[in-house]
Amino acid sequence: MYPMSRPRRLRTTAAMRRLVAETTVRTHQLVLPVFVKQGAAAPVPIPSMPGVVQHTRDSLRKTAAEAVAVGLGGIMLFGVPATRDATGSGGIDPDGVLNTAVRDVHAEVGDDIVIMADTCLDEFTDHGHCGLLDAAGRVDNDATLAVYAQLALAQVRAGAHVVGLSGMMDGQVGVVRAALDAEGHHDAGILAYSAKYASALYGPFRDAVESQLCGDRLTYQQDPANAREALREAALDLAEGADIVMVKPAMSYLDVLHAVAEVSDVSVAAYQVSGEYSMVEAAVARGWLDRRRTVLETLTSIRRAGADLVLTYWAVQAAGWLR
Ligand code: PBG
Repeated sequence: MYPMSRPRRLRTTAAMRRLVAETTVRTHQLVLPVFVKQGAAAPVPIPSMPGVVQHTRDSLRKTAAEAVAVGLGGIMLFGVPATRDATGSGGIDPDGVLNTAVRDVHAEVGDDIVIMADTCLDEFTDHGHCGLLDAAGRVDNDATLAVYAQLALAQVRAGAHVVGLSGMMDGQVGVVRAALDAEGHHDAGILAYSAKYASALYGPFRDAVESQLCGDRLTYQQDPANAREALREAALDLAEGADIVMVKPAMSYLDVLHAVAEVSDVSVAAYQVSGEYSMVEAAVARGWLDRRRTVLETLTSIRRAGADLVLTYWAVQAAGWLR
């Protein structure tokens, strides 16, 4: 008896496979994360992220223009300051590395791409934590919120369309929304890193921003063991006014991404983080994986799980493949 049902019929030709593809990856759904280093005279390669650099002001402007030229949806800026202090004051300083970079990028590309800035303290603190520390050395949630509001205001004044709240402090979305509204920035959006896990996969990123962190972020980032908690985090962020909710990392958390996408009534993002990039690049360098096929497969999987937009260090290369 031959099979009656033949799913293979829908795989016979490239045209047939394209016709029935449920999931697509489009260039405008991709956001490129970039690093800019204060005082750099030339772009500095990041050894654990082959192909990614810490930009100079100049090379950042060129990269932003390229991102527009290839049709990316957004660019997410991270600053690497020359000096750090206990309160991360360089993040608020209008002439600090990140706010200067936001102004530069806005001058270069205006509204042609969505300009996002990382609204967090870890790049700017000498202890490397995402918040202020109390006398006992613990991250002080509520004292940190007031600083996040100042960070967000500085970034939006510099020209950011969206602030990316990546610090995992409770109440951060509500406090920042109120601060932005109080100054009339009703159109500035909030990308909430709602379900951000305490992941080993951020290792290369910490090289990229020259993180000073000793210890861990286990008291504020989520435990990889928990999925239900991600729904609670997302619900709080939605209630506080998040415009986009994000799950991070992406590939090891596709179940979480799917669950958040099921309940969210705003756009859902996923961050394909530094470690996801570095793992694939390391295998590609050894000839063990094919870069193009692997990257497009991971991006398709992330979209299939429910992400509307994806932050990925391969955004520019992917744009070339997706043309
Ligand atoms: C914190 C922040 C981190 C990343 C983005 N924002 C690092 C962390 O939480 O330690 C990681 C991104 C990546 O690994 O690509 N500001």
